[in-house]
Amino acid sequence: MSQSYHAIYQKWQNDPLGFWADAAEAIDWYKQWDTILDESEAPIYRWFSGAEVNSCYNALDRHVANGRSQQLALIYDSPVTNTVQTFTYAELLDQVARFAGVLQQHDVQKGDRVIVYMPMVPEAVIAMLACARIGAIHSVVFGGFAAKELATRIDDAKPKLIISASCGIEINRVIEYKPLLDQAIELAAHKPQTCVILQRPQAQASLVNGRDVDWQAAMQQAQPADCVPVAATDPLYILYTSGTTGVPKGVVRDNGGHLVALHWSMKYIYGVQPGDVFWAASDVGWVVGHSYIVYAPLFYGCTTILYEGKPVGTPDPGAFWRVISDHQVNVLFTAPTAFRAIKRDDPNATYLEPYDLSHFRTLFLAGERCDPATLQWAEEKLNVPVIDHWWQTETGWPICANLMGLEQLPIKPGSATVPVPGYDVRILDVYEEEAKAGDIGSIVIKLPLPPGCLPTLWHNDAGYKQTYLSNFPGYYSTADAGFKDEDGYLWIMSRTDDIINVAGHRLSTGAMEEVLAAHPDVAECAVIGVADELKGEIPLGTIVLKAGVSRPHDEIIKELVQMVREKIGPVASFKIATVVERLPKTRSGKVLRGTMKKIADGEAYRMPATIDNPAILEEIAHDLAELGYPHQKDA
Ligand code: COA
Ligand code: AMP
Repeated sequence: MSQSYHAIYQKWQNDPLGFWADAAEAIDWYKQWDTILDESEAPIYRWFSGAEVNSCYNALDRHVANGRSQQLALIYDSPVTNTVQTFTYAELLDQVARFAGVLQQHDVQKGDRVIVYMPMVPEAVIAMLACARIGAIHSVVFGGFAAKELATRIDDAKPKLIISASCGIEINRVIEYKPLLDQAIELAAHKPQTCVILQRPQAQASLVNGRDVDWQAAMQQAQPADCVPVAATDPLYILYTSGTTGVPKGVVRDNGGHLVALHWSMKYIYGVQPGDVFWAASDVGWVVGHSYIVYAPLFYGCTTILYEGKPVGTPDPGAFWRVISDHQVNVLFTAPTAFRAIKRDDPNATYLEPYDLSHFRTLFLAGERCDPATLQWAEEKLNVPVIDHWWQTETGWPICANLMGLEQLPIKPGSATVPVPGYDVRILDVYEEEAKAGDIGSIVIKLPLPPGCLPTLWHNDAGYKQTYLSNFPGYYSTADAGFKDEDGYLWIMSRTDDIINVAGHRLSTGAMEEVLAAHPDVAECAVIGVADELKGEIPLGTIVLKAGVSRPHDEIIKELVQMVREKIGPVASFKIATVVERLPKTRSGKVLRGTMKKIADGEAYRMPATIDNPAILEEIAHDLAELGYPHQKDA
C-alpha cells in the first residue's frame, strides 16, 4: 500500500536533516558531506557542505555503468522540422563528453560561466550537461528574449564562452538567432572569448573570424572529457528571472542539494519509475525545462522528451496526443495555457480520437494559476488525474503538490494541494501573524529552504537577503498571495509584486515600463497585467504623453509595441496600450495599478480613500472599455 502524505510530511518535520540525509543515499557522491545543513552563514544556508559530486555523472555515466546504456535517454521530437531523433544513454554520454572536450579545448574551466542561447534542439541539452561535466556554470537564456535582455545577462554572468545556433523556428517562421547574439555582444561591456554556433539547415549564420567556432567542426576534432568532481555547494547553473526592476535576478542552483531534491521529487511528487517516459512540454530556457526536461528525468534514469513545437499549430491541436502516443509518454508536465490553447481550438477533443494514450498516467500543470474549467476539461478528456502544483524559478522544484508517489489526496480544482516535505509554508497577514484558514495573506516559507532551492543570487548575497528575506524575518517571501483552507490546502491567488505570468512566462511589468518611459513622447506610464482567456494574463500599457505631443496615438502605440519587442522580446506579448490624460495616483504619488487592473478585469473595486483625482478612474474605465475591457466572458 502507498504511504500517506501526512506520515511522510510528519517524518520530515520530526527530523528534517535525517530526512534529507536518507534521500541523499540515492545519489553517487565522490566524497560524503561534513555537514548536512551548514548554518554558519545563516540566513544563507548550504546543503551537504564538504561533499563532492558531479551532476552529469549522476545524469548519465552512472546509468550507463548500471545497465541503462541502451535505454533511450532523450527523444527529440520536432514537428517544425519534421524530425524525430533519439539518443540512448550511451549515445548521449558520448556526445556530452565530446562537447565537454570542446569546452575544455577553448579554455573553459571549473567555475567559468557559459551562456547557452539556443532553441529546443538536443545540442542545448548536450551543452548544459557538458558544462555540468567539467564544473562550468551554465546560464541558459530563453530564445524569445531580445538582444538587450541577452546583453544584460552577459554582463552579469560574464561568460567565457557562449553557445548558440543559427536559428530557432516558431511554427513556420525562421527566427535568426545569430544577429541577436552579435548585437547582444556588441551591447554588452563584457566580451566572451569564444562563441560555438550550431548551424541549422534552415539558416546559415556568418561566423566572426577568431571568435566563432562551428559546432560540428569542433565536435569532429574533440577528445571526450571526464567528469570533474565539484563541491556540492558549487553552482551548477545561474538562471535569470524577472524581478521587480528591469534588471533580472541571477538565481543560483547548487549541485548537491539540487541532485537530492530533484531525484526525490521524481519518485514522490511525479510518481514515476526509472525507465518511464517523462515529458515536460516547456523550454530549456525556463526553470521547468532545466529541472524537468534536462536534469530530474536523467538523474532518475527516465527517458525525457525534448519537443520543438507548440500545443496548437504544429500542425494541429492533436500535437500533444501524437507525442504521448508515439513515445508512450507516462507523465506530461506543462503550463495551463497550453491546455487552454488546445481546448480553444478543439473543444470536444476530436483530435484525441486516433491516438492510443494507454501508457499515459498523469498530467501535471504549473507556471501560472490553473483555472478550474481547464483542469476539469483536461480531466474529463484524458481520464487521468490532473495535478496543479506550485513552484518558482527560485525553488527549482515544487513547493506544493498532490504527491502522486504517495497516496493521492482529493483534487480541489484551483488549489495546488499541500506543502511538499521540506517546505514549511505559512500565510502571514500584514502584522506578520499567521492568517486564519480562508484568509488571504502573503505566502512565506520558514527558513531554511529545502535542498534544491536557491542558496543566493549570483554574486549578490545582499540582493538575495533584501529581496527574499527582509520582508518577513525568518521566512523566505514567495511574493505570492493566497490562503490555506481548513484542510491545509494552499490556494495561490496572485503576486504581491509587479510580476505577471503571460502564457506561463514570467515577466516584469516594471521592465516594460522602463522601455515605454524611454520613448521621447512618453511622460509617464504604467503597465498592468489583465486577464486573458488564452495566456492567463497579458500586459496592457497606460500612457501619458508629454505636453504638446500631437502625433496620432496609434502611431505612438505602434512604436511602443515595437520597442518592447526589440528591448525585451516578442515573448512579452505586449500588444495593447491606451493613452490617458493622467495616471490615477494616491496623494503620495503611488500609481493605482491594482485598481486599474480590477477595472480592466471587471472586478469590484473600492475607490481608494487617498486617491488624488477620483474622476480619472472613470476616464480610464472608459478608455479600457474602448479597448474591449473588461472582456465579456463566454457563458
Ligand atoms: N524564440 C523566438 N521567439 C519566440 C520564442 C522563441 N523561443 N518563443 C516564443 N516566441 C515568440 C512567438 O513567436 C510570439 O511571437 P509573435 O508575437 O510574433 O507571434 C511571441 O514570442 C509570444 O509567444 P508565445 O507566448 O509562445 O505565444 P503564442 O501566441 O505564439 O502561443 C501558446 C500561445 C499558448 C500556444 C504558447 O504560449 C504555448 O505553447 N505555451 C505553452 C506554455 C509554456 O511552454 N510555458 C513555459 C513554462 S512551463
Ligand atoms: P516561474 O518562476 O516562472 O516559475 O514563476 C513562478 C510564479 O508563477 C509563482 O510565483 C506564481 O506566481 C506562479 N505560479 C506557478 N505555479 C503556479 C500555480 N500552480 N498556481 C498559481 N500560480 C502559479
